[in-house]
Amino acid sequence: RVAGGVRSFRLEARSGLTELVPGVRFRTMGYNGTFLGPTLRAARGERVRVAVSNGLTLPTTAHWHGMCLPAAQDGTPHQPISRGRTWTAEWTIDQPAATLWYHPHPHGQTEGQVVRGLAGLFLVEEAPGGAGSAGLPSEYGVDDVPLILQDVAVASGGRAEGGRVQAPVGRLGNTVLVNGTHQAHFSASTPLVRLRVLNASSARCYNLGLKGGGRLWLVGTDGGLVPEPAALERVLLSPGERAEVLVELASGTDVVLRSFAHDLGMATGDERLGGARDEFDLLRISAPAGAPAGAEVPASLPAPEAAALMAAGLAVGTTVRTFDLGGRSINGAVLAMDRIDLAVPAGAVELWRVANGSDRAHNFHVHGVQFLVRPAAGDHDGAGITARLGWKDTVLVRPGESVDLVVPFGKHADADVPYMYHCHLLWHEDQGMMGQFTVV
Ligand code: C2O
Ligand code: CU
Ligand code: CU
Repeated sequence: RVAGGVRSFRLEARSGLTELVPGVRFRTMGYNGTFLGPTLRAARGERVRVAVSNGLTLPTTAHWHGMCLPAAQDGTPHQPISRGRTWTAEWTIDQPAATLWYHPHPHGQTEGQVVRGLAGLFLVEEAPGGAGSAGLPSEYGVDDVPLILQDVAVASGGRAEGGRVQAPVGRLGNTVLVNGTHQAHFSASTPLVRLRVLNASSARCYNLGLKGGGRLWLVGTDGGLVPEPAALERVLLSPGERAEVLVELASGTDVVLRSFAHDLGMATGDERLGGARDEFDLLRISAPAGAPAGAEVPASLPAPEAAALMAAGLAVGTTVRTFDLGGRSINGAVLAMDRIDLAVPAGAVELWRVANGSDRAHNFHVHGVQFLVRPAAGDHDGAGITARLGWKDTVLVRPGESVDLVVPFGKHADADVPYMYHCHLLWHEDQGMMGQFTVV
């Protein structure tokens, strides 16, 4: 609803029972329903207001993951919504078109709420009404399709909800749902389909690829489009990450979007336990009958900000900060809600060096910003570099790896309300693998 120049949304977190897998009812949560939440859309420059009501029996919060906004609107544990109450966030969209999302962030209880279904997409458009879509398919639900990936646990025998299996990366389910659908299927009406894929799982990574033909192009990362579409065999998404991909269908050939085995850099037993060997069919895509003419994969995309910042590199004198990821701590500490770990000057561009010295895979998410991942020396994988030239807010860091993030901070100064950075494997996050920073 748009009134007085403000685009307003209402969300209500609820719990219920949902038959997510035929014959199996799960205890679920959702926004405005019993599982997942509506897709919110707004354009760059628009003022938005979201009223979030808590119809659960537990405290919750509503965090706008990937959004560059003032810390007091961010929906962290510092903005709790107690049972029966409503919290309203309001801000002006000030970032490139992107596939963002929202989810609860109550300290110590995020996993339990997200895996039950409290998650939804927040799509930022370049201009109102979808103008400026860069020649990409952009008809929501027709050739521009959101895919929210989550794993759930089904008990052996297939008749009841089961227990999730504890691994060093967190708790995994054994069945993967796409938009809450088991064995999802999509009938394409065009030969080129844009998929906006969100990994909203607690701990499971997905290594996306096609089975049965077709071509896959990466066009967007967490925070926006990449400078040019990259033809890739596989796109790996850790929890919290998004990718926008184009699937080019060969006429008359059905394909399957599948998650393939991958490498998380852990010891063999932990890789197996952590799901890196698992494979799942995610979405069956049937090609349109005949060969209708349609959009083509564009040669380039309007993502100049990222390219320019990366090309400029870092100014002399830029602050470098290091973050050492331990088993479940950052720089040897776990979260203390009343401790601010660091203060960043508003508008600064800093280099954040994140090193994983532990034996388990982690990822690293920063609130309130979109960053660039500087290719490591010796990273000569051309496709990998292209993929990294997009804006990110969450990045996988394997055991023994170190990544350099170029982070431009916003101008919303607030010395009292912190933003957070943390591992987005939700069980690690709930255990306090998280720190806090202010922008001053
Ligand atoms: Cu997606 Cu701090 O969260
Ligand atoms: Cu976030
Ligand atoms: Cu972790």
